Amino acid sequence: MSILVTGGAGYIGSHTALELLNAGYDVIILDNLCNSKTESVKRVEEITGKKAKFIEADIRDREALDRVFAQNSIDAVIHFAGLKSVPESWQKPLDYYENNISGTVTLCKAMQAAGCKKIVFSSSATVYGAENESPLREDMPTGKTTNPYGTTKLYIEKILQDTYEADKEWSVCLLRYFNPIGAHESGRIGEDPRGIPNNLMPYIMRVVVGKLPELTIYGNDFNTPDGTGVRDYIHVVDLALGHIKAVEKVLGETGCNIYNLGTGIGYSVLDIKAGVEKAIGRPLPFKFGPRRAGDIDTCFSDPSKAKAELGWEAKRDLDKMCEDTVRWQLGNPDGYGD
Ligand code: NAD
Ligand code: WQD
Repeated sequence: MSILVTGGAGYIGSHTALELLNAGYDVIILDNLCNSKTESVKRVEEITGKKAKFIEADIRDREALDRVFAQNSIDAVIHFAGLKSVPESWQKPLDYYENNISGTVTLCKAMQAAGCKKIVFSSSATVYGAENESPLREDMPTGKTTNPYGTTKLYIEKILQDTYEADKEWSVCLLRYFNPIGAHESGRIGEDPRGIPNNLMPYIMRVVVGKLPELTIYGNDFNTPDGTGVRDYIHVVDLALGHIKAVEKVLGETGCNIYNLGTGIGYSVLDIKAGVEKAIGRPLPFKFGPRRAGDIDTCFSDPSKAKAELGWEAKRDLDKMCEDTVRWQLGNPDGYGD
């Protein structure tokens, strides 16, 4: 079976490509490298001892996509390609709508023309908005996203649901990720963000390697046990393995299904700091700062639907998430380099 992985050179895509190769799938990675490097793909091949086909192309380029489908027999698509920065999406909403939404529509049209109607899509817990109470369940209302990035995920979910409603030959899996952290335990692939990271764990890693002086914790007056924000951090390898189950589902039956991919456990910013300190064996410099606009108290999943229907659950605990992230970062202080 051959799987097209859009955005497969990126953080989650590279870990998923690795698990697909390990599971015996043929993997074709399509990425425009706007937020990644081919080094990740080389390292996936090095770790697995297997080859992935890499195509540098943009999901908005219909002709390139048509060529990919004409030249390869593709059984299903896992669609990671997209822009993902919340603050950047406020500055450049049109870029986000064009890249994420138009890109997905172009991809689906190329898939439809080629008769490949099986897709697993990277959605996000952000579609639950700020009003639902955790644990978040797939049947809770969506629609009140709080930033343009989140709105792209909400609209794409709707586009894919409508596509299935119009043509029941489609098989769609919408995966709502919570907060992915961690790295492959080889320490050879991991998250490599450009510039100053927005997300907690990549920011902490810059402090660990001495590139930033200290962590600023955004607020200690949230309505949580220790006052800092609580999130459902999930090891990226567990997340990747969730995609293997999802791809089996779309290959096996038609339908349109939504699954949370989270652990169901909420950890605070101070819990994450403590986990990293345990992994590095020293205290992490930090200070408390004001809240960041838009941050909510608590967000964690009810992951029971994925367990019941996909037979998947996260297995890696917080210590493992922190150890693996630290191993990657200390072994690669400059990420994948230039
Ligand atoms: P990433 O930026 O590391 O990976 C995305 C990849 O897509 C990159 O390699 C980038 O070069 C590529 N890409 C972007 N636009 C493209 C285009 N038009 N054509 C071809 N390739 C393109 O991000 P990630 O963290 O691996 O996230 C993967 C997916 O999961 C994204 O859709 C993201 O929105 C979603 N997601 C991520 C998180 C998270 O916290 N990391 C949480 C929820 C959902
Ligand atoms: C986690 C916690 C911060 C940085 C975002 C997106 C979401 C999804 C995942 C893609 C919060 C605190 C952070 C720092 C801090 N992405 N923090 N100091 O905001 O839960 O989710 O990424 O879909 O859509 O919104 O993740 O890692 O930014 O923050 O104190 O320097 O860490 O306040 O409590 P978030 P995050």
